[in-house]
Amino acid sequence: PETGRLSIIVLGASGDLAKKKTFPALFHLHRQGFIESHDVHIFGYARSKMSDDELRDRLRRYLTPGKGCEETHDEDVSKFLPLIKYVSGPYDSEEGFQLLDKEISAYELSKDSKEGSSRRLFYFALPPSVYPSVCKMLKNFCMNKSDLGGWTRIVVEKPFGRDLKSAEELSTHIGELFNESQIYRIDHYLGKELVQNLLVLRFANRMFVPLWNHTNISNVQIVFKEDFGTEGRGGYFDQYGIIRDILQNHLLQVLCLVAMERPVSLKPEHIRDEKVKVLQSVLPINEDEVVIGQYEGYKDDPTVPKDSNTPTFATVVLRIHNERWEGVPFILKAGKTMNSKKAEIRVQFKDVPGDIFNSKGKGRNEFVIRLQPSEAIYMKLTVKEPGLEMKTALSELDLSYRQRYQEVIIPEAYERLILDTIRGDQQHFVRRDELKAAWEIFTPLLHRIDNNEVQSLPYKPGSRGPEQADKLAEKVGYVQTHGYVWSTNTEY
Ligand code: BG6
Repeated sequence: PETGRLSIIVLGASGDLAKKKTFPALFHLHRQGFIESHDVHIFGYARSKMSDDELRDRLRRYLTPGKGCEETHDEDVSKFLPLIKYVSGPYDSEEGFQLLDKEISAYELSKDSKEGSSRRLFYFALPPSVYPSVCKMLKNFCMNKSDLGGWTRIVVEKPFGRDLKSAEELSTHIGELFNESQIYRIDHYLGKELVQNLLVLRFANRMFVPLWNHTNISNVQIVFKEDFGTEGRGGYFDQYGIIRDILQNHLLQVLCLVAMERPVSLKPEHIRDEKVKVLQSVLPINEDEVVIGQYEGYKDDPTVPKDSNTPTFATVVLRIHNERWEGVPFILKAGKTMNSKKAEIRVQFKDVPGDIFNSKGKGRNEFVIRLQPSEAIYMKLTVKEPGLEMKTALSELDLSYRQRYQEVIIPEAYERLILDTIRGDQQHFVRRDELKAAWEIFTPLLHRIDNNEVQSLPYKPGSRGPEQADKLAEKVGYVQTHGYVWSTNTEY
């Protein structure tokens, strides 16, 4: 790997994302030696005026010890914080970015920086409204110094626009200033351990290869639930809603990995080519296969308009029109203020043909990948109930990570993805054509919701969402198993 003269610039350094995600991820990378003090400098840039030490103090409480690193934590923090420098300036002023460039260049030429090329990673922890001006400023004033070689990369985070048109405008604007190979569109779900496992599970296990299609699979659910509301970010959330916040990006990315064909190789472009094909094969959404909801009390937030129709819950059925998936509903479901907090993929198989055990209705085979909390992969099987009688029962093969990989510390999604950006690996980032295809799927529905032509149904906080959503899942083929309790479920 390249060493020396790496500058990581966090734009929007005093904001929520930077404090909660970006800086802690950098801290953990540093603690584990993936970025080293003699190789890297970190710059925070934002509008507020403050000193280096003020920023460091603000960040300190967000830097929590890694598992098993409690004893060295204070030392780890005191080695990390001095690497951060703060530069203040507006997001559209030449002076601000000239000053930033001066600071970065001073580091690159200082004796603290070892020989090496000029590598500049700009992390946008910014509201998207300032993306265009910031991109322009970076391009004009802050690119890596060509006489030193190296690279400039930008890391951008959703929302990438509000619909197809605005997303394409943003892409065109950024695309005029940076090459696709310089742009890292983060979707942090792609950094989750079990999302990264999908490719391996599907393509390295002979067992799944012949089963993974419409002949055997009845339906697929991709579910995201949170047991809290939009506390503190109602104003932001109301402009986007759950479809833009979760389905169009996180759940759709997961769908791609569940549904795509085997890529030619593991090269990022080969993988992303297959993801785009899946998205392009998704049929227009049928409104009879959509239920949107809004939790009661959402509009009590003073920053939310009293007549808001913004969904905080959605179930949307997607249908992939290709040879593998004809007829299989992909049920995407996400909600805030639900009865639990989890994200999982549930692949439900069809009933066994010619069943001799009279087991119909007693539960189907399911393959479940729980992304969080407590990562697990388990499979629901019908077995003989132990004992003298010949009775069937539903049981499970269980791979719970906490039990099976007791010593392993699973890295945070942001940690892994930031490391990829430094290493120049775009596999787990969203390509421009992927983004476009994702917006194409949801834009017509979003416009209808924005125009109040599709109404959000009320649901009780702490519930499963509107009951129409469960009915819809049932209507398209999902069979819920009643009375089955996974006994180890709560222990890990
Ligand atoms: C973010 C959404 O992208 O993902 C939030 O904007 C949501 O609304 C969050 O809470 C969920 O991420 P995670 O990793 O906690 O599942």
